[in-house]
Amino acid sequence: MRYLLRVCSGSYTPFREKGDQAAFLNDLPVEYSGCGLGDFRESCLRVETKEGFRACGLTYAGHRIFGGKPALPGLPATYGGEKDCTTLELTCCDKVLGLTVRLYYTAFEKLDAICRSVQIENGGTEALKLTTVLSACLDLDNRNFDMLTLHGSWAYERMICRKELGWGKQRISSNRGISSHQEQPFMALVEHTATQTQGQVYAMNFVYSGNFMAQAETSQQEQVRMVMGIDPEGFGWRLAPGDTFQAPEVVMVYSDCGLGGMTRTFHDLYRGHLIRGPYKDKARPSLVNNWEATYFDFNTDKLLDIARTAAESGIEMLVVDDGWFGHRDNDRSSLGDWYVNEKKLPGGLDRLVRQVNALGLKFGIWVEPEMISPDSDLYRAHPDYALQIPGRPGTLGRWQLVLDMSRQDVRDCVYEQLYKILSSANIEYVKWDMNRPLTDAASFSLDDDRQGELYHRYVLGVYEMQERLLRDFPHLLLENCASGGGRFDPGMLYYSPQIWTSDNTDAIDRLRIQEGTALIYPLSTMGAHVAACPSHTNSRTTPFETRALAALPGCFGYELDLTKLSTEEKAMIPGQLERYRKYGWVFRTGDYYRLASYSENGEYDALMAVSKDKRIAVVDYIHVMSRERRRSLILPLQGLDENQAYRSAETREVRSGAAWMYGGMPLPKMRGDFLGQLMVLEAAAV
Ligand code: GLA
Repeated sequence: MRYLLRVCSGSYTPFREKGDQAAFLNDLPVEYSGCGLGDFRESCLRVETKEGFRACGLTYAGHRIFGGKPALPGLPATYGGEKDCTTLELTCCDKVLGLTVRLYYTAFEKLDAICRSVQIENGGTEALKLTTVLSACLDLDNRNFDMLTLHGSWAYERMICRKELGWGKQRISSNRGISSHQEQPFMALVEHTATQTQGQVYAMNFVYSGNFMAQAETSQQEQVRMVMGIDPEGFGWRLAPGDTFQAPEVVMVYSDCGLGGMTRTFHDLYRGHLIRGPYKDKARPSLVNNWEATYFDFNTDKLLDIARTAAESGIEMLVVDDGWFGHRDNDRSSLGDWYVNEKKLPGGLDRLVRQVNALGLKFGIWVEPEMISPDSDLYRAHPDYALQIPGRPGTLGRWQLVLDMSRQDVRDCVYEQLYKILSSANIEYVKWDMNRPLTDAASFSLDDDRQGELYHRYVLGVYEMQERLLRDFPHLLLENCASGGGRFDPGMLYYSPQIWTSDNTDAIDRLRIQEGTALIYPLSTMGAHVAACPSHTNSRTTPFETRALAALPGCFGYELDLTKLSTEEKAMIPGQLERYRKYGWVFRTGDYYRLASYSENGEYDALMAVSKDKRIAVVDYIHVMSRERRRSLILPLQGLDENQAYRSAETREVRSGAAWMYGGMPLPKMRGDFLGQLMVLEAAAV
């Protein structure tokens, strides 16, 4: 492979010793870049000595290859045994600094995915300051690449953004302490001509839930360096002699069959080697959540009314959202006081849960453990538990402050309250929310020269707490959430098999949000609910059935006041649930194909899932905007077995997989906006 290096002297490029293969560092593809010694592209590792010297150069010291994959201490990561993957550990060192750097590459051979992480060990005698530790670096020639990212905002998360890769550095990042609504820890270099079905794609996704950066940089030699890791802004880690720093993992996926190939690799990797727990491969209970039904205005009677209607319709679980604790009647108080508000729920949770269980429903609850309201008993007793910079007034977000999750005592204090609540009743599901970004990021518990560690220690604290929760309540179904999809990332998926996708519950907006989400994340991870109309997000009115079709591919539920539905709407719920039970598993476990995108064609949306054995396929078609057509549309399908005959459950027509794929499926003619249909193909004997 050495010929690919094309070692040569770039003009106006500093060098060390002539004859040294790696003399002209700036033009050389490297696996992990140091800093200050002649590679002017992005540095993966920046180190500062106590004298303030800032240089680091890594050279090969050894390697070993072994089956399986080591866990990353304290961090979420993909996992796999000897049959699934092989790991290369590459050891490099900087002898001047006494630094050892271990680069880990785990290849999941059957999946075209490599997971990379980095460990830095200070083997010297002086403490060092790490000011940048990225987790992956990929140097390659520019092949007319586009850069693909997922941009967004609250209620519009993960909008697909594709643009031509230009010169210099093009970067996305989050310094909000969470992966964020605004940017997703994902970047792909995509051949300019690549589509859903053809072309090369190099993608990276960060298994991390805090500050990150991802960058593609085109150099003077038209080389591209793609990097990903913890955002260096605000980061500084003091590494004492003998200490090791473990950077989180980046998943790298390659596809030579377009974006669809990349997507399916991510889905398989995450379903098989990231998500854990009892619900990993199981259907998730259909639920009704009371948030958009009641907001803070509920009591036992109201909840039981909803639960009764839910039970009659066949819904399996009631989730009580925000407002059941402290004296929380709006968003201005009580975060941190995790005890039941007996005015709303007399007799506590146990009494309520027994009544809900007696109706045949499971019970779930909302919590927001990382936060503290200034109006709370916890804050009055421990104001120092909140993140704050001495002398500064502090910044509120949604009227709340952020707890210092880097502190063990703070975590213990909140955890003990949660433990008590969850042990007090038969609670089978928890929605863990997080409703503001981090500011004033300083901790009373850290030394002055360690304040740069706070953001990362915060994330480690959250991970530790969720791990503890899963250990103590191994049967719990955990759903993460951060004002909707503000922390929808692979780090969170390691702890919860599903995440609330967005606070935007309008069916039509959801098509675009779910399309962007499903570009990397399995459909089985997306919380998706049928909500009230006019939509609380954008006032749009859509038919009840269309809302159910838009939510069907995800973790299906309802988020409205069931008691206020019309008789016709109520009567539709059992059929919608039956459809979820009958076909939900194909979306959850099958191969996903994006057939048509409303955000591209402005007219209709269609996604497809094919079971792994290719015996059954489902097409979720939403006809968004009506347009006069003399002829119906024909949709070429994907992923079927060409030689297998399939019968349409709707028209009873039988055609070969090849005919459905290359001839296509005529779509039902629909008159009117916001309509839809599920179409099912089943393998048939001919
Ligand atoms: C966040 C969540 C919502 C809901 C509210 C409750 O915004 O995303 O689903 O739980 O908090 O305050």
